[in-house]
Amino acid sequence: MTAIQSAVFYAGRRTSQPTYPGWTRLYNPIMDSASALSLSDRTGNSETLQRRLALFPRSTQIQDDRLIIGDCDVHALAERFGTPLYLYDRAELDHAAATYRQALRACWPARWQITYAGKAYLNPTLADWAAHQGFWVDCSSAAEIEIALHAESKRPRILVHGVNKSPDDLDAALRAAAVIVVDNLSELRRIAHRTPGRIPPDLWLRFQPGRSVPTHHAATQTGQRGSKFGMDEEQLFEAAVFCREHHLPLRGIHFHLGSQFWDASPFREAIYRAVSLARRIGLGDDWHFSVGGGWGVCYHEDELPEPDLESDYLRPITSWTQEACRQQGVALPCLHLEPGRSLVARAGVAIYRVGTVKRSGNRLWLLVDGGLADNPRPALYGVRYSCLTVTRPLAEPTENVAIAGPYCESGDVLIETIPLRRVEEGEYIALPVSGAYQLSMASNYNGALRPAVLLLEKGAVQVMERRETPADLIRRQGANQGGLLPLG
Ligand SMILES: Cc1ncc(COP(=O)(O)O)c(C=O)c1O
Repeated sequence: MTAIQSAVFYAGRRTSQPTYPGWTRLYNPIMDSASALSLSDRTGNSETLQRRLALFPRSTQIQDDRLIIGDCDVHALAERFGTPLYLYDRAELDHAAATYRQALRACWPARWQITYAGKAYLNPTLADWAAHQGFWVDCSSAAEIEIALHAESKRPRILVHGVNKSPDDLDAALRAAAVIVVDNLSELRRIAHRTPGRIPPDLWLRFQPGRSVPTHHAATQTGQRGSKFGMDEEQLFEAAVFCREHHLPLRGIHFHLGSQFWDASPFREAIYRAVSLARRIGLGDDWHFSVGGGWGVCYHEDELPEPDLESDYLRPITSWTQEACRQQGVALPCLHLEPGRSLVARAGVAIYRVGTVKRSGNRLWLLVDGGLADNPRPALYGVRYSCLTVTRPLAEPTENVAIAGPYCESGDVLIETIPLRRVEEGEYIALPVSGAYQLSMASNYNGALRPAVLLLEKGAVQVMERRETPADLIRRQGANQGGLLPLG
């Protein structure tokens, strides 16, 4: 992976920093002109399409020129369930879970636990899936806790995060969580205040190690000094003293350095500092240490091949943890990982219908029926996506097109430029790697209705979420139809 220097505009701010695969530049009207591809452009196109195919779930096949995922015909699903439509491939979810388990088993000689970061995407079916994988679920609000508790057949153990937990969040966490990760001293005081005479769930303290990992965007870095997350050494020490004085069950230390990274080297120092804190606050031999989540995924064929989970991530961080414990005379902890994206992103595929093909200036737009409202990531972070057509997916590209949604915002662009075969109105396209931080960050902008979400398994389909209806929106918006309420 080579870092390229690039400039990115974000919220009116221009930052120049090293970029990694997944980083995109914004639309440049000169460079991104829509054009028929020259013969030389076409060279290697079929290889590019094959690489694009490798972004999809491993079960994906082309049969009779149609995209098949989880043994289901994607075109038939789109016709039957409508679009935008989100598909999750069960086999891909299971594969990601097994890869984590195997790698941790191979790298870590003591106890370990994986927690699925529900913020990536959570519903009762996924909470159930996580519990069956032996994973805990990380929840960031009372509502996420409620969703996790609705797991259909097996309740996961729940770990609760949050930088400013509301009274409702705290009460839900105190009722249902196995672990609360305490972000700050005020929160700790509130916990003590809410649990007089009762023993709360295990508490871990969130450490701000003063290091973040290089990610595709500054907005996804969390561990750096001045970040809104966690406590520095002195604050954390103070929190530990408070726990001791109030007989609170302090059991662990947690940090999370950032999300969508492939360079684990900043972990070395962060781990060393966390282990030395564990010694300083006297966590003892039975302690828990979470190094958070954040391992990256490839969103675009140019970023392939994907770095290796075991050799590029888990092997280094587990050996640094062992080294830090040995050097400081600290017992090996129960090691916790908190992956979200790398468990679910590749399993998810978003299907859109092309409603309008339109030329504007020198661009050729494919205008589809979803975008910013179900996937704000390109607008938020400039993430670069790829796609295939659902029928004739491997047909030779002939044109560069831009793909945008229907919403009243020029930033509602899913793909700035991509070579595709000629696409007609009414056809479907499939965006791979759509399983994380898309639906969980979705909105009702312009009255957009949240898409239906299907779980695909060996030719069968489970509706994980039905499509939202206008009645769903109106039910909530009409809450005050009784007119003005007298207060007091
Ligand atoms: C505390 C914490 N843990 C875990 C995660 C999961 O990160 P990812 O989905 O990138 O693995 C996040 C994401 O931001 C997080 O904030």
